[in-house]
Amino acid sequence: MIKKFQDTIAEEIEKLSVELSLPPAELYDPIRYTLAMGGKRIRPLLVMMGCDLFGGKTDDAIAPALAVELFHNFTLVHDDIMDNAPLRRNKVTVHSKWNTPTAILSGDVMMVKAYQLLCRSKLPPHVFDSVLSVFNDMAIKVCEGQQWDVNYEQLHRISIPQYFKMIELKTAVLLATCLKIGALIGGAGKEDAKNIYEFGKNTGIAFQLQDDLLDVYGDEEKFGKQKGGDILSNKKTFLLLKAMDIASSNQYLKEELEQWMTLPPTPELRSQPSLSARLSGERGAKDAAEKIEAVTRIYDFANIKKITEEEINSYHTKAVESFEKVYVSAEKKKVLLDFTSMLLKREV
Ligand code: IPE
Ligand code: IPE
Ligand code: MG
Ligand code: MG
Ligand code: MG
Repeated sequence: MIKKFQDTIAEEIEKLSVELSLPPAELYDPIRYTLAMGGKRIRPLLVMMGCDLFGGKTDDAIAPALAVELFHNFTLVHDDIMDNAPLRRNKVTVHSKWNTPTAILSGDVMMVKAYQLLCRSKLPPHVFDSVLSVFNDMAIKVCEGQQWDVNYEQLHRISIPQYFKMIELKTAVLLATCLKIGALIGGAGKEDAKNIYEFGKNTGIAFQLQDDLLDVYGDEEKFGKQKGGDILSNKKTFLLLKAMDIASSNQYLKEELEQWMTLPPTPELRSQPSLSARLSGERGAKDAAEKIEAVTRIYDFANIKKITEEEINSYHTKAVESFEKVYVSAEKKKVLLDFTSMLLKREV
């Protein structure tokens, strides 16, 4: 069934790309480029699965499913500008391949397209109103989360609860909303819609923790993003905050970590796509590779990988507890449960 949904999503995105073969090429080519890169397309799948869970007509969920994927891709194109990221899905990012104004505008069009797609859905008016309302709430929260993320780059230290609030907003709310939109279309009641949202939210928090982990420990080829990007940007990830906690009782480690984290995030160091290119590059590039290696060594010493994996498991458990409250047979729930478990073991 997952495969059937994935095929439908792929076909529809392909159709959309054809519709978007328009002038000016500088505006539309980056959109088609981004959509063609694929990605895992988990968000539209969650919409379809959420609808199916409650026995809804999944055809009704197609347009909203595409809308969330367009919205997600819009956030990625803008996120890569904010994060100075050279690579996305193993390809050069839009602002690096074209330029920043183009990336801003193509992203904007993708966001408007997301709303157009929502309006294309033929949902009964009361369902459409609820879907639009949760979509709007989500869209604002993602921007709030992204702003916190950018603000925190400049701060020496934030608290662990501040980190979790930030990732809830920038990442988890979208995953939660996808499931809730699917559930609303499928005819779920209020209580079930709330519980499935909580399931999506805690899964989303675990998903972002995993993303932070892969940024340091993932395989660059598989992950498709520049390894160590968060370290170079001084992102306040769970990994860094935990390492700071552990280092606070070890003067040597504390000074070493602080010394690296006081290096400003220098955009020009991030423009070299691969580690080998950075290593063989000029002095500044070497500094970047050195910083990634040094901070990773501290993480290794402090056992950060294991601590983060435990945190992922704990949010996964929390997610499952909410899902258990959803009033649907265990048999029907299995497919979604298996999918999210697999997602949190991902390497891409
Ligand atoms: C990337 O999301 C942004 C985060 C919230 C971590 P995905 O890992 O789902 O990206 P794609 O769409 O599969 O490329
Ligand atoms: C992603 O956070 C959040 C959004 C795009 C809204 P990241 O900045 O960690 O995502 P990646 O790692 O670039 O995909
Ligand atoms: Mg970011
Ligand atoms: Mg990013
Ligand atoms: Mg990331």
